[in-house]
Amino acid sequence: MFESLSTPKPDKIIELMGMFAADPRPNKVDLGVGVYRAPDGRTPIMAAVKAAEQRIWDAQDTKGYVGFAGDAAFHAAMKRLILGDAVPADRVAACATPGGTGAVRQILEMVKEVRPDAQIWISDPSWPNHAAIADHLGLKRCTYRYYDWATGGIDRAGAFADLSAARAGDLILLHGCCHNPTGADFTSDDWAEIAAICKRTGAIPFIDMAYQGFGDGVEEDAAGTRFLAANLPECLIAASGSKNFGLYRDRVGIAVAVTAAGAARDAAVSQLVAMNRMAYSFPPDHGARIVDVILSDEALHAEWMDELTHMRVSMQANRKALADALRDLLGSDRFGFLAAHKGMFSLCGITPEQAIELRKKYGVYIVEDGRMNVAGLTQTNIPIVAKAMAAVLR
Ligand code: LMR
Repeated sequence: MFESLSTPKPDKIIELMGMFAADPRPNKVDLGVGVYRAPDGRTPIMAAVKAAEQRIWDAQDTKGYVGFAGDAAFHAAMKRLILGDAVPADRVAACATPGGTGAVRQILEMVKEVRPDAQIWISDPSWPNHAAIADHLGLKRCTYRYYDWATGGIDRAGAFADLSAARAGDLILLHGCCHNPTGADFTSDDWAEIAAICKRTGAIPFIDMAYQGFGDGVEEDAAGTRFLAANLPECLIAASGSKNFGLYRDRVGIAVAVTAAGAARDAAVSQLVAMNRMAYSFPPDHGARIVDVILSDEALHAEWMDELTHMRVSMQANRKALADALRDLLGSDRFGFLAAHKGMFSLCGITPEQAIELRKKYGVYIVEDGRMNVAGLTQTNIPIVAKAMAAVLR
């Protein structure tokens, strides 16, 4: 059986992680995979997470199963975090999943079940796993223009023109904030335009919310998602606790469907539960419980917000420092957009050949499409990265 298996194309991001780990050079710089790094290069455990784990350790007296949808207290905490009071609770179906990827997968599984002809509209570019999962499930996929390479901003006219061709029941996949890989985010006017397109076409927004709190703040980053949820009859959300709680390996995610109250919501809950049962029965609980403990305790919540703010501010400072260093070296503001982008990533306009040269010659690791994780920058490595970029751009 196995000799006939073809080798799947490697995921560029994960492939790069392996190359970085195997590189013996002491001064190598990892700007590849999307993990937050403190100035010393480590990915720290947040103090609020440690404190919540301690409480769980002290109080938890069983590891018995929770339920196919996960813990109701986790759902409530995440619904508040993502949706605020944008929609009444009886319109929201939710199900815990292993990470945000698990939520993307379970939602697309559900869509395949109920609307096998739906087309999934994915931005050009997007996180590569969006297309990979849609393709794996045999869902039809369309691309909408998104990034304007010339300005480092969004090609609004292109995006809205493409999305206007969506059909009723299609899914428009949107990044709630901190667009991965570009770093260029929609404005509130853009979200209003997207709501209008969905109303006109009957398409349903599907929001991937993997970086809430990394852009402008927890509430600000959820504004577009909340606007769509409040103004449209249906909306799907895949959210992650990997980044904003630093719980990468604990796999914290939630699949959310905003529906009409009553039978539609009940149907969405039972579909999501059935999807979980068939995939892995019970979603992981430990990380979800940590999130619940933090979000439901005033002091821990405040501590977490402080730590999250610190991460966001340090990423913004890294962006500005790199843009400044490149301005000094190149004598132009060509990379000024880096400081305006949001979140961990920027698509910095480096070609695949230049990205390979950065890696091989200078030990600076960015994804071949030019995506850079700005959380990997430090005061020490910014001058090295800027010089290397200037050298490969010449
Ligand atoms: C990334 O985009 O680097 C992260 O979301 C990690 C991943 O799973 O690709």
